[in-house]
Amino acid sequence: MKIGILKETQKGERRVSISPTISKQLIDKGFEVIVEEDAGISSSFKNSDYTNVGAVVEKRGVVYKEANILVKINPFTEEDLKLVDKSHILMSQLFHKSNPELIKSIAEKGATAFSMDAMPRISRAQDMDVLSSQSNLAGYKAVILGAYEMTKIFPLMMTAAGTITPSRVLIYGVGVAGLQAIATAKRLGAVVEATDIRLETKEQTESLGAKFITVDNKGEESEGGYAKAASEDYARRQKEAVNKSLFQADLVITTAMVPGRKSPILITEEQVKQMKNGAVIIDLAAAQGGNCELSVMDKTIIKDGVKIIGTTISPESVSTNASDLYAKNMYNFIMHLTDETNFKWELEEEITDQTLIVKDGTIRQNGNIK
Ligand code: NAI
Repeated sequence: MKIGILKETQKGERRVSISPTISKQLIDKGFEVIVEEDAGISSSFKNSDYTNVGAVVEKRGVVYKEANILVKINPFTEEDLKLVDKSHILMSQLFHKSNPELIKSIAEKGATAFSMDAMPRISRAQDMDVLSSQSNLAGYKAVILGAYEMTKIFPLMMTAAGTITPSRVLIYGVGVAGLQAIATAKRLGAVVEATDIRLETKEQTESLGAKFITVDNKGEESEGGYAKAASEDYARRQKEAVNKSLFQADLVITTAMVPGRKSPILITEEQVKQMKNGAVIIDLAAAQGGNCELSVMDKTIIKDGVKIIGTTISPESVSTNASDLYAKNMYNFIMHLTDETNFKWELEEEITDQTLIVKDGTIRQNGNIK
């Protein structure tokens, strides 16, 4: 079984789906690995790092021709699919619910495709969960970006010239990114507060030494690790509980998302007006519409003295670590699906069932596609 590692073509992408270290681990397990030339270069992995562990480096066309499994991070594009045929098993994030046309095109090729972002949120799938491994880094990077954009420092500092009080950081959404943002801001010495619609996150927030702002979530409870869209009444209660902290914050990081839906607006223009002059909002939910009413993806807006940065901080900016973690997720996933390099095709098993979106040209109905 030959695994083909493709170079990412999406603008701004710097990661690679499988690192040289993981290539070696796959080769040790009996797989062959073929890598598109320069696939790892933007993650600081040279072609020779791959060949040194026994992988073969080839031009794009050869990788498609020779590999059985084709691995990427970003969804396969129509351009990529020109080289795909029914012998191929594709593995990447496909975001299949919002990409029905892509799924149709894969099916028309007669190929098979797994989507990494469709991983179920169960404990045994944790080490295969690319959304988690990448969001974690995004949470870290959001704080670093905030520190760079702020005109204040994070920690309390006592100097001969006077005492600097610590910055106040407020985090909306204590999922994977939010938790890492809390931990990073705490490490840098800020006073950190956080809120989330899922009350189980209170204990997690407090275990990191931050203060949790509780909002009564009666009627908003959900299952499966994800939040559901909040009611208007919840949004009102949330404003009442959080506004005081929002108006005192120096840095606000918003990470609140609801899968498959537009992100909830948690900070309106009216609220921005009442924030501190010089405050910074890093809106990590910007790609899905944003948690701040004024956010624009990939733009910095300054409004009433508040700097609002709409970003995903997709972990391209820390591409070496992001690639390492994505690669480890891929390794665990491939190990889960195969037995001595052969696919087991256990279609009833939850991880296979949820992630296998197209099988031999047929779009599956029992998985995530409904
Ligand atoms: P996410 O990216 O979908 O959302 C981020 C956070 O925003 C969530 O905590 C959510 O509750 C919160 N949120 C949504 N709407 C909100 C609102 N109106 N107001 C305030 N907060 C709001 O979530 P993420 O980061 O992917 O993880 C959510 C949970 O799933 C975490 O507890 C995580 O540990 C768990 N998880 C479990 C996995 C596993 O067991 N394999 C894998 C990945 C995550």
